[in-house]
Amino acid sequence: MLSFDDIEVRRPDLASSYLALLAAQPGRPIALFAPRRVGKTFFLDSDLAPTARNGGLAPVYADLWLHRGAPLDAINHALEEAIDDVSVPTTKAGRRVRTAVKSVTAFGAGIEFGDEPARRSLPSEPSLRLDALVLRLAYAARRPVLLMLDEAQTHGEHAEAAAMLSALRAVLHRRRQYVYAVLTGSSQDAIAAMVSAAGAPMYQFAQLLDFPVLGNQFLELLVQRFREVHPSKRLSESDLMPVFQKIGYKPQLMKDIVKEMSAEGSTDPVAAFERLVRQERHISGWLAILDTLAPIDRALLVLIAEERAPLARDSIAELKKTARDATVSKVRASLERLKRSGLISSSARRVQVEDPLLRGYLTSDARRLT
Ligand SMILES: Nc1ncnc2c1ncn2[C@@H]1O[C@H](COP(=O)(O)OP(=O)(O)O)[C@@H](O)[C@H]1O
Ligand SMILES: [Mg+2]
Repeated sequence: MLSFDDIEVRRPDLASSYLALLAAQPGRPIALFAPRRVGKTFFLDSDLAPTARNGGLAPVYADLWLHRGAPLDAINHALEEAIDDVSVPTTKAGRRVRTAVKSVTAFGAGIEFGDEPARRSLPSEPSLRLDALVLRLAYAARRPVLLMLDEAQTHGEHAEAAAMLSALRAVLHRRRQYVYAVLTGSSQDAIAAMVSAAGAPMYQFAQLLDFPVLGNQFLELLVQRFREVHPSKRLSESDLMPVFQKIGYKPQLMKDIVKEMSAEGSTDPVAAFERLVRQERHISGWLAILDTLAPIDRALLVLIAEERAPLARDSIAELKKTARDATVSKVRASLERLKRSGLISSSARRVQVEDPLLRGYLTSDARRLT
């Protein structure tokens, strides 16, 4: 069976370029930004980790979103697991870490792994523990560690985030031959807030990079697969690009759109997107979410979906129809709530409804009918 879901774009060159940046500035992490669901985690897992492994590093992945409230514990836990994998190399991960380095890179060029520093019991204080674990893993794997900290901005301005960042910063500096780090984030604002809460501007702490979204190569693979299924139909990658752009370059949603086209034997991606927006299973989920929102939040969400500026005078006038006491400061508070809930995302450029299907729904007739 030909499936659209199996389609994968690999970006080893992008991974190598990030590793080269890291090697050129020991002690300084890079932070990759992109909206949700464009492929950051996929990239860490399928491109960065294997490339790093081949380049002589021991990659360690920690999802900080899953451990809200305890980011440092999440990193320490991931390091402990990696140490277990190396020390008891019966698992696949452990064998991988010990396999020979294929390509020589600048990593670890000058380091000697002599005798391991005398082992003391691991400190329980999280920031000291991070330091000890990094060193222990580097010695066990006999190579520098690459920390991949996914969704590092999750904790925003919380004290735990500031503590995590200063511990990380200290370890990256002090052990710079032994550890490198890549952070990802879907909110540049949140990570900036987090770093300034830790007492330093972001650019001093890390090199900030926009993580590139997938492009034509991905659409070409979709088109190829579509043609295999429908040899007589004409579809080209340029037919798909406008919709891919409109949905914020989210590959899984694009696969769903092309699957929908394929099922209908249609070559019209806009119509397929609209069909997805109207599907019962999505709508009932959104209604449940919308139900939990305060009236002003719900009305503001619709305005944002319509790409209207939330704080503009006519927007506030519109909101007053639903929430009579709407004021600029109430709208600001409402924006914060929507951001925190993940329903909207904001960058320096604009505020938008995060999920393109929900955005489509909020601006469609379907909403007016329910
Ligand atoms: N390079 C890729 N090739 C094919 N599909 C991808 C690729 N990157 C991401 N995807 C699809 O998009 C989904 C969301 O990607 P993910 O990495 O979780 O996004 P993010 O971490 O940015 O939120 C993945 O589950 C996968 O289905
Ligand atoms: Mg992710």
